[in-house]
Amino acid sequence: MQKKWWQNAVVYQIYPKSFKDSNKDGIGDLTGIIEGLDYIRSLGVNVIWLCPVNRSPMRDNGYDISDYYTIDPLFGTNADLERLIKEAKTRGIKVLMDLVVNHVSSEHKWFLDMLSDENSPCRDYFIIRETQDGNPPNNFRSYFGDSVWTRIGDSNRFYFHSFAKEQPDLNWENPRLRQEIYDMMSYWCGKGIAGFRVDAIGNIKKSAKILSSCHMPPDAGDGMADSHDWLLNQPGINVFLSEMRDRVFHKYDSMTVAEVSVPDDQLAEYVGENGYFSMVFDFSYTDIDVNGVTTPCDLVPWNLEELKGHIYHSQEVTQNIGWAAPYLENHDQPRSVNKYLPDGAINDYNTKMLGALFFFLRGTPYIYQGQELGMQNYPFTRIEQFADEGALKRYEVAAACGELEEKIMDYLRRRSRDNGRTPMQWSDDEYAGFSSESPWLSVNPDYTWRNVRSQNQDDLSILQFYRRMVWLRLHSAYRNVLTYGMFKGLRVGGPEDFIYRRYDETHEVLVILNYSETERPYSINLSGYEILLNNYAAIPDISCPKAARGSIGEEHTLLPWQVLVVGKEIRQKSC
Ligand code: NOJ
Repeated sequence: MQKKWWQNAVVYQIYPKSFKDSNKDGIGDLTGIIEGLDYIRSLGVNVIWLCPVNRSPMRDNGYDISDYYTIDPLFGTNADLERLIKEAKTRGIKVLMDLVVNHVSSEHKWFLDMLSDENSPCRDYFIIRETQDGNPPNNFRSYFGDSVWTRIGDSNRFYFHSFAKEQPDLNWENPRLRQEIYDMMSYWCGKGIAGFRVDAIGNIKKSAKILSSCHMPPDAGDGMADSHDWLLNQPGINVFLSEMRDRVFHKYDSMTVAEVSVPDDQLAEYVGENGYFSMVFDFSYTDIDVNGVTTPCDLVPWNLEELKGHIYHSQEVTQNIGWAAPYLENHDQPRSVNKYLPDGAINDYNTKMLGALFFFLRGTPYIYQGQELGMQNYPFTRIEQFADEGALKRYEVAAACGELEEKIMDYLRRRSRDNGRTPMQWSDDEYAGFSSESPWLSVNPDYTWRNVRSQNQDDLSILQFYRRMVWLRLHSAYRNVLTYGMFKGLRVGGPEDFIYRRYDETHEVLVILNYSETERPYSINLSGYEILLNNYAAIPDISCPKAARGSIGEEHTLLPWQVLVVGKEIRQKSC
């Protein structure tokens, strides 16, 4: 594959509402992000992804855009965004925006025009069906739990929405709508953004079935049927995606990461040499506990063998086709340590181990704000503590299906998206230094000791470990192999032994990890390798790689939750 600039990126994802509040309203903003840029630079990352900052009624925290061209006053002004792009650039950091174009807000001018004017050209910007009997066209369920159809006023007409009713889907069949979207994307590219994280893009093509009057057999007590099979990656989507790529992404050499789960046999179209996107997020291991569940508050049991299987498979398939986007967390996920590590046994060792497991995979790694501190789920006890509409809706639906309060709360404590959205923990000052006012969502009580300030002062901290990982990937002698090198998952030992290899013609790196709370022997001959990273060692000076080096023999025992990253040069480059 031809080399691209974004293959050398490490991305830091920012959830603007929760990153840093500069204007004392309890909500994070763009000036707060600018104030945090030196911290972001200190991590070593070179790209930031901003969750949506466009004008929005915030029913879905910005994923319901009412004006694509204006920054929401909650976050600041258009000039603030331009300032952020400029300030980031002076620190060697590029900015990705979130591109939400499957749907808009029901307060977007297009939707309001459609409602108020029978002859509006925007009428065909949405998906509308009329029924004779006044019932919704069919019984498909939206991702947020309600029907995909909402009635327009007291008419027999209904509009389609994949998510909440305040997020009407756009009609991508309409070329005029598509041109409006491409113009808007070009506008932001012209302002200097480096690309997009592309939201819910697998839904833009609707099947005939999901828009038909076909009543499906219900799969749950709500009388509705799951819509995934008729809504995601439908035949014909290629026309829209390739057009978007040709009209915008190629023109601006954009970095793009799409939120879409793609079957292996279609991956080449998405991320191959002339794919629609630079990379796509893989849900197989981040949703390992919920994949395939249609009931509102059940989780699927999983084990380490399955986790390893998903990670190795995803890496092995993707590397033969294109580029990957390894991540552990985002704003739709709970904190990774709570998902992947045993309850009551989370500590700094296994938090670092988990970080190293994903960070050296092949692809562009994404770090979600606070992950570098080992931030954890919030100890929710009451439904009133949640802000996410998704959590509130799920509570309602689950209660209507007869689920017990205790089970619903347990599910939300583990899985609510609010877990990942609590304010960034900067210090042990009031409200974690995020704001001087009470924040829109409560701060995790562990902020008194888990925060940037304290971890900056501790050579053994999770934060320093993350800095070291970024440094290894972007600046060390191993940067090429860690970026472009091939991946090989070694299937040795038990389920707890995760060992993978990154290699090219000149270097090799092994990531060796004991995913268990007991010591484990391993039998890899490590003579000739140097230790690049060890979660049991301090990182005294990350700018000085020799400080963390040592030599190692052949007999090894990994301590509980230990990870070692070791490397060696395998052939001198000829001059
Ligand atoms: C995916 C986003 O990540 C999520 O936060 C949002 O609710 C949905 N798409 C709808 O835009």
